[in-house]
Amino acid sequence: MANDTNVHWHEHSVSRSEREELNGHKGCVIWFTGLSACGKSTVSNLVDHKLHKRGIRSYVLDGDNVRHGLNAGPGMLKERHGEEYAKRFGLGFSAQDREENIRRIGAVAKLFAEAGTVTLTAFISPYRRDRDAVRASMGEGDFIEIFVDAPIEICEARDPKGLYKKARAGELKGFTGIDDPYEAPAKPELVLDAGKKDAETLADEVIAYLVKSGKIK
Ligand code: ADX
Repeated sequence: MANDTNVHWHEHSVSRSEREELNGHKGCVIWFTGLSACGKSTVSNLVDHKLHKRGIRSYVLDGDNVRHGLNAGPGMLKERHGEEYAKRFGLGFSAQDREENIRRIGAVAKLFAEAGTVTLTAFISPYRRDRDAVRASMGEGDFIEIFVDAPIEICEARDPKGLYKKARAGELKGFTGIDDPYEAPAKPELVLDAGKKDAETLADEVIAYLVKSGKIK
């Protein structure tokens, strides 16, 4: 059994509010959730760009990128660390692996927010329970959940990586929306109609929300 009872939390010598004061805006986590190819990455990157232009410190944590590093899959880890290690720490797409993926991202996003950064996350994060656990780990108002709502028919028609096609053909098992669940948020802070509106319009809606809620000026 691992013994982590002797690990203690250190207070930072620079407080979060001091960092926020220096930045001129609050830190927070803007959590985008939705099906693969619904537009999470595109919209979050557009918001990031718009924030940057306004002089706001922001950063995007993106599913496909984070799964190349912090949350690499067994295939990626195997070559460097061996089979045993890859099996133990590599993350795939089972419900439990997705839970761990979201738990780690939630913890990283929380650190970013505490560093005063407007942190954008773009993960499918299909399970309500996993997203709610991240929300619960953070302070009131720090977690802004945004449902990028595009019908599966549209995501499937886009299919930028050809994964829906593979899933339909049975070559890829457990693909979200095809043979794996997606649980839409019950009470998101914002819903983006990604089936009807373009990414630019949606990004402006996010910015407007951040201004209205006092996160940025
Ligand atoms: S999550 O479910 O754990 O939140 P995450 O956002 O990190 O998923 O990764 C999703 C990306 O991994 C998709 O955009 C797609 O490119 C790829 N992917 C590979 N296999 C699957 C799968 N079985 N289900 C969903 N996405 C998959």
